[in-house]
Amino acid sequence: MIDVPVALNDRSYSISIGRGLLAQAGERLAAFTRRKRVAIITDESVAARHLPALVAGLQGFEPTPIVLPAGEGTKSFAQLEQLLDRLLALDLTRSDVVLALGGGVIGDLTGFAAAILKRGTNFIQIPTTLLAMVDSSVGGKTGINTKAGKNLVGAFHQPLAVWADLDCLTTLPAREMRAGYAEIVKYGLISDPAFYEWCEANAPRLLAGDAQALAHAVAQSCRAKAAIVAADERETDDVRALLNLGHTFGHALEAETGFSTKLLHGEAVGIGMAQAFRFSALRGLCPQADAERLTAHLQSLGMMAWPAEAGISADAAARLVAHMAHDKKKTADGLPFILAREIGDAFVAKGVPLEAVTAFLQADLSGSSERRSAA
Ligand code: NAD
Ligand code: GLY
Repeated sequence: MIDVPVALNDRSYSISIGRGLLAQAGERLAAFTRRKRVAIITDESVAARHLPALVAGLQGFEPTPIVLPAGEGTKSFAQLEQLLDRLLALDLTRSDVVLALGGGVIGDLTGFAAAILKRGTNFIQIPTTLLAMVDSSVGGKTGINTKAGKNLVGAFHQPLAVWADLDCLTTLPAREMRAGYAEIVKYGLISDPAFYEWCEANAPRLLAGDAQALAHAVAQSCRAKAAIVAADERETDDVRALLNLGHTFGHALEAETGFSTKLLHGEAVGIGMAQAFRFSALRGLCPQADAERLTAHLQSLGMMAWPAEAGISADAAARLVAHMAHDKKKTADGLPFILAREIGDAFVAKGVPLEAVTAFLQADLSGSSERRSAA
């Protein structure tokens, strides 16, 4: 068992990473509440696989599961309203705890519902996807999607704890594992070249479900995210923004594919990180060899590294830049890009001319096709 602290004064908490955590849920929860009632929010896919183990582990408690549809569509006003109604019907008090059992969708929705239920109710994140274990369950960003875009309504609301039970990953599809891996390798690319090298050497066994490799990668990722969140909880100091490496390019790809299962968030981030490195190299900021090394690493794992591999057409450059213009990270100074000086040294770049981005994309979109047909 590995415990990673998130140091946030009176909102500090611990991320527990290990196997068999669901079976320990009762004794772990008893440290936070004396109330017997506990709501578990989950989705249909996760409920079928892991809800019985959690319910069995909650000895001494009276759990009420609330099972929602699986998928990004659940992060909606309609589902939020229904969830709040069901939680209110349970007559929970602020001393009760709500458990979020699932991926980033369930974690983001439950966290937001907890943030506004009775002006702030406690919740615990029990992430079941790799992406949720290394990113979305940590740091307190919660929210839903609206017609205007993804994650545009939400709140910062830190959980009481995060319990990452690696056993849950045994049922996660390979495609979702690779999507989560993109967020792991991101931490190496941002500030930890040694961890990036570890990823290069160990990613195949990690993706094959090796428990030791997973434990190390999840713990290292959570340590990196915890340090960033402790330094800049609300993304006001250009520190937490580094976590958006690959996200500005990736968000545009997600928008272009309609935020659908055609391209998962983590898949878009993988391509986006490779693009951020290629763009950095083109601007003379980063060695070309580093961009090629990252691209080759992702491809060696069967991951996409070029937009064309996600079916983005060669004439999409202007549309992608238009999608970027709607990015929520845009400020009065324009859209910040997370670029790199080398592997392990990312930085926030402001004032990047969008014409330069368009020109880069025009080449990157056709470059990918050439490489694919050459392969
Ligand atoms: P998800 O929650 O939709 O889970 C992906 C799929 O895997 C779903 O169909 C789910 O039912 C299924 N699933 C979950 N656990 C499983 C398991 N153990 N076995 C089998 N199937 C399982 O998606 P995700 O990738 O976990 O999260 C994506 C969401 O996270 C997006 O909405 C994104 O905006 C959000 N996000 C939030 C943050 C944050 O800081 N709050 C960070 C990154 C991403
Ligand atoms: N996933 C980005 C953040 O938590 O800030």
